[in-house]
Amino acid sequence: MKRALCPGTFDPMTNGHLDVIVRAACIFDEVVVAVATSPDKGGGPLFSVDERVRMASEATAHLSNVSVRPFDSLLVDLARQVHATVIVKGLRAVTDFEREFQMAQLNYRLDDAIETLFIVSVPEYMYLSSSAVKQIAGHGGSVEGLVPANVNERLVERLGQGR
Ligand code: PNS
Repeated sequence: MKRALCPGTFDPMTNGHLDVIVRAACIFDEVVVAVATSPDKGGGPLFSVDERVRMASEATAHLSNVSVRPFDSLLVDLARQVHATVIVKGLRAVTDFEREFQMAQLNYRLDDAIETLFIVSVPEYMYLSSSAVKQIAGHGGSVEGLVPANVNERLVERLGQGR
């Protein structure tokens, strides 16, 4: 039984995240999507951790081997707690590489029994990010097709759209 962790802030989950989760769910027996309570990037999240967990759970409800949970600890501690041996992250353009490389190195140093595996983004989501989605929706633009339908609804409720 191989269990993987797909961690992130997911503020909110995009179709790029979902694509990586679906592909991880094809490789591993089980995938735990781990939603970080507090983002490590500047600024507070738009959605509370409960809202982010709910949106991610709805968007992955069709995947029988995927579960979603919040976390507020070191990632390697959560991996040990849920018996996951692999951390799966998506890689988009080279701009992601340095930060992801640093996190992978530090996680390996913290626990060398846990591997980091990168899944390369499909070209259509290469430049997609949660921040870009929030910026577009915040200015009234449409993010349909860039985020799961349930996330689109929440974004419209929270930020408005097509004003
Ligand atoms: O969506 P993101 O910003 O890429 O997610 C980053 C996340 C949540 C995976 C990362 O910040 C994280 O693992 N936080 C937990 C704290 C931790 O374990 N830090 C040590 C590795 S740098």
